[in-house]
Amino acid sequence: MYLKTSPLLFLAPMEGLGAIEFRKMLALIGGFDECCTEFIRIPSHPHIPSLVNKYDPKATWPIPQAAQLMGVNAKDLAEAAYQLGLKGAPRVELNCGCPSNTVTGKGAGSSLLDTPDTLFEILTQMCQKCPVPVTAKIRIGVNDDLNFQKNIRLVEEAGCQMLTLHARTKSDGYLHPARWEYIQEAKKQLRIPVCGNGDITTEDKALEMLEKTGCDHLMIGRRAASDPFIFRKIRCKLEKRDFVEDTLLLFKALDLFFTEIFQRTSPIGSIKQLGSFLLSSRVEIRQDFLTKPYNSSHDAKQHLIECLEKLFSLQHI
Ligand SMILES: Cc1cc2nc3c(=O)[nH]c(=O)nc-3n(C[C@H](O)[C@H](O)[C@H](O)COP(=O)(O)O)c2cc1C
Repeated sequence: MYLKTSPLLFLAPMEGLGAIEFRKMLALIGGFDECCTEFIRIPSHPHIPSLVNKYDPKATWPIPQAAQLMGVNAKDLAEAAYQLGLKGAPRVELNCGCPSNTVTGKGAGSSLLDTPDTLFEILTQMCQKCPVPVTAKIRIGVNDDLNFQKNIRLVEEAGCQMLTLHARTKSDGYLHPARWEYIQEAKKQLRIPVCGNGDITTEDKALEMLEKTGCDHLMIGRRAASDPFIFRKIRCKLEKRDFVEDTLLLFKALDLFFTEIFQRTSPIGSIKQLGSFLLSSRVEIRQDFLTKPYNSSHDAKQHLIECLEKLFSLQHI
């Protein structure tokens, strides 16, 4: 599947935003080919069946949901990948990009980029044991690009079927402009498909990344939260069709989000996080939504809907 010639569109793994509820909402709007869980942490001495049990490959049906693992113990990660594959994961990914100190402090996430031998050992064992494609999502490096060439090559040598590159270093965080030239370099060096990630904010930017870097596929994170139609817009642009926004579909998808998120004990944080993305094009509306005190999550929901209606009426003047 990952060798397809037409670009595949991936929704980036994103922890927070209600995670699975958010992915279900976006899957209803559609336009992308696959999504992925946020990282599933494999701690030391894990009870793997209980971690794997929480994963449902069909939760975002009809869009397949891959699984992402984060950890540092090769044997445990390989076993988890094996069990996820048996459970129906279309793909299992190793997270080599998470900048969080609580994670990287223990050698996982982006810290793996500083220990290429460990990274190679983990990916090799995962690829040997897992019955479905294994992929790696990496950054350029931790503070610099000294291990970049080595890391991208070892991903291929270990047997991964795709490399996703979030084109920033760990020190770049999320705000430094993505360095697309590294995606171009990875594409030149590797035979496996390369998925470009970082700063795709419009359909034109998506085409620009494909043209400038030659990458095979595209992955989008934050923009999908502020513009849930971004994938459909890109698909239309690729197929030279006109895009027509369907506000009713957005409200239907939001309805699904609220129904699901209200089953949590404290959904208000997820509603605020999603609202801060969805309203980001109008600072004053976003500010009003974020600063208003809420007595309940139903209040927050109601106000988010009002703010969105205001946003859309302004957009359509
Ligand atoms: C709120 C949030 C949570 C994230 N969680 C994860 C994660 O669990 N695993 C991962 O590999 N990347 C994670 N990322 C990084 C994204 O997958 C993506 O690489 C990054 O946002 C750059 O893409 P973008 O410019 O399209 O947003 C997260 C990013 C954000 C903003």
